[in-house]
Amino acid sequence: MSQIAEKKLGGVQDAATSPIAQIVLDGLSRPQKSLPSFLFYDARGSDLFEEITRLPEYYPTRTEAAILAEAAPAIAAHTPPGAVLVEYGSGSSRKTEILLDALPNLAAYAPIDVSQSALAEASARLGRRFPTLRVIPTLGDFSAPLILPASLSRRPRTGFFPGSTIGNFAPADAAALLTHMAQGLGDGGRLIIGVDLLKDVSILIPAYDDAAGVTAAFNLNILARLNRELGADFDLQSFRHEARFYAAESRIEMHLVSRRRQKIGLLGCLFPLEAGESIHTENSYKYSIAQFQALAELAGWSCRRVWTDDGDLFSVHELDRGI
Ligand code: TRP
Repeated sequence: MSQIAEKKLGGVQDAATSPIAQIVLDGLSRPQKSLPSFLFYDARGSDLFEEITRLPEYYPTRTEAAILAEAAPAIAAHTPPGAVLVEYGSGSSRKTEILLDALPNLAAYAPIDVSQSALAEASARLGRRFPTLRVIPTLGDFSAPLILPASLSRRPRTGFFPGSTIGNFAPADAAALLTHMAQGLGDGGRLIIGVDLLKDVSILIPAYDDAAGVTAAFNLNILARLNRELGADFDLQSFRHEARFYAAESRIEMHLVSRRRQKIGLLGCLFPLEAGESIHTENSYKYSIAQFQALAELAGWSCRRVWTDDGDLFSVHELDRGI
């Protein structure tokens, strides 16, 4: 066997044992092909997502940041000194700075994210900006159990889950995640959570399909990642990004639509796609305030306060465990 062939074989074996291999094979084998959205956030994907948050069409980030700036003093007033701030899916931790400015007496900030590069950059930047703050980053999925150093284990916990990431879960899964967070944040725990509100499609669709094509690049990057990490042979030119709104489910769906009939090779399997057939990559559910509150209460939380912007685009909720 030539050296090149051996190398290739080694590569395929590595790919086959990759933790994402089984998940990807499973998703592409379904009648509606799908890929899990955590795959978006490799280093390039995390950068592209940061770009999305600055797009004129993407109202959630700046709207939520303005709401947080207004609510921060009230949030701080309910935060006991020596609390731990736990952030789920912290990414760049930009919005966190708004809370950290208002919360000088935290024992620690514990960001959790699937992107090593985003965690490292955010921890370094926060270390410079808040030199006395203890930062304890965790690489992983926020559905994993929350493990803090023993010295912090008895501190009261405030969770922070901004960006309407909760909307990326189907309602039943969202309720399960909120229950899991209630357990992780413990008795006396509290959660500050950002939730995007239902609104007209003329605002919703451009937020997920911007004129500059950044969201399209972000969606397509998932295929580049599979080419690189699993040796797949996706031709990115033969797919286009599409955002669809389904009113009955109150959700935006992100798809990668095949421009032609083709076969994708991946880990020794061939996946046929018809022209116009799609791979579903993400959902983003939109709620009314009352709908979200009902979901949170189902998950064992009490809804204490809610803040919105003047245009009712976005909401930030303060949930606690009640008495
Ligand atoms: N939580 C964000 C949202 O639902 C995530 C997001 C924004 C996203 N734009 C995206 C996910 C585009 C996939 C593709 O708004």
